[in-house]
Amino acid sequence: MLLPEGVAIDGATGTVTPSTGRYEKRLSDLRGFFHDDAALDRAIATDGDRVAYEVIDYRHEDSDLSFGTTIMMPGTVGGEYIITRGHFHLRKECGEAYYTQSGEGLLLLESRDGEVKTVEMKPGVCAFIPPEWAHRSINTGKDKLVFVWFCATDAGHDYGIIKDRGMRKLVVERNGKPTLVDNPNHA
Ligand SMILES: [Fe+2]
Repeated sequence: MLLPEGVAIDGATGTVTPSTGRYEKRLSDLRGFFHDDAALDRAIATDGDRVAYEVIDYRHEDSDLSFGTTIMMPGTVGGEYIITRGHFHLRKECGEAYYTQSGEGLLLLESRDGEVKTVEMKPGVCAFIPPEWAHRSINTGKDKLVFVWFCATDAGHDYGIIKDRGMRKLVVERNGKPTLVDNPNHA
């Protein structure tokens, strides 16, 4: 039987104590997700294959609810801000919430029929992600972007559809500001 417990979440660093798992994605893991692979190669050659983001979770298979943090590094690749891969949930009725703790970013969402929305990510804002909206977070700030997510344990992730055809929009730095533009690679 699972027992109740308090989980400490550091909103500045994103550490979760206790946690049940973690993974990180480096720039090379995001090949095919950024719009410019040549720029990605140059970024890795220049700065090394640095960590783009880390996910720390608190999840138990015997509970339907999980949560955790995502810690995103700042920076750009070919003018595009650091992104997460982006996914739909496999279980079509599953939404999610992203509660930003520190930093600033944009949550980019795309519905099954191609509607695009963004939600500002900043401390104090909890973004609601409805079912059947693909979601990708983007660090548009100068510092780490740290947010807490709450999701069904068995929601599942479909990353392939985003990798195969891309999202319709990109967020790039233009004159020092995040700007939403069409993705030239969108299929
Ligand atoms: Fe999700």
